[in-house]
Amino acid sequence: MNSEILVCDASYFRIDYEINPYMDTGLQPDVRAAIAEHEAIVRAHQAAGRHVRHIPAAWECPDMVYTANAAVVRGSRAVLGDPPPERKSEVPYFRDWLEADGFEVLEAPYPFSGQGDALACGELLLAGYGQRTDRRMHAVLADYLDYDADQIVALRTISAQWYDLDLAVAVVAADTIAYRPHALDEPSRQRLQGLHRDRGLDLVEVSTAEAARFALNLVSDGATVTMTAGAPRLAADLRARGFTVVELDTTELRKGGGGVRCTALTL
Ligand code: ARG
Repeated sequence: MNSEILVCDASYFRIDYEINPYMDTGLQPDVRAAIAEHEAIVRAHQAAGRHVRHIPAAWECPDMVYTANAAVVRGSRAVLGDPPPERKSEVPYFRDWLEADGFEVLEAPYPFSGQGDALACGELLLAGYGQRTDRRMHAVLADYLDYDADQIVALRTISAQWYDLDLAVAVVAADTIAYRPHALDEPSRQRLQGLHRDRGLDLVEVSTAEAARFALNLVSDGATVTMTAGAPRLAADLRARGFTVVELDTTELRKGGGGVRCTALTL
């Protein structure tokens, strides 16, 4: 789980537009601080034993540091993200990188937020929709990435505050999910409760306040959880369950509306 990830440096990270409620063109990141923050996240991944690959940043792509949205990958296949118009210039860079690395790549036929809305959880795929992902993508993912229909767990986030599923739900281990119930619509909550009931998944609830500080935007390999600072309750809940938790500063990256999870594409 997350043993190999793709990151992009923060060299050209800036706020040129506002495509989520956290972005404010009047509040620009300090680029040197953002680079240092991002490098600290990369070092934390490496210290946890994860293999980190790198794609160079492109000047015309101020959001490219959030590699999670580029695609979703399973085995040797990848489905590219189809982001909002402001981010479309990123797509060819990621397509070229993935193809050069030997992946078979499919272009998304509908709006799709990549791994921002597609979280692998053991043999399941937690599949977001309703904001940046068209629900019809779920069948495309199942078909191309070889999931059975019952392995796709559709989860709808209720507002732009949760514009990607990875702000509202986190896979901590194949049998442990942390989430903010109120970020999801009722049928989606029922589906998660069903995973608890039928498959024994442990569901960890997170407060709105901590989720709004991107507590759930974390990367876990099932043993070590790399997450933002500022969510002490979730950190304590995870430690109580036996996970090693590493908390990092994400002050600059959050200005773009993202954190630890968004800056890693799981390969
Ligand atoms: N500014 C970026 C956007 O709005 C942030 C993306 C964060 N990615 C994520 N997986 N939540 O597209």
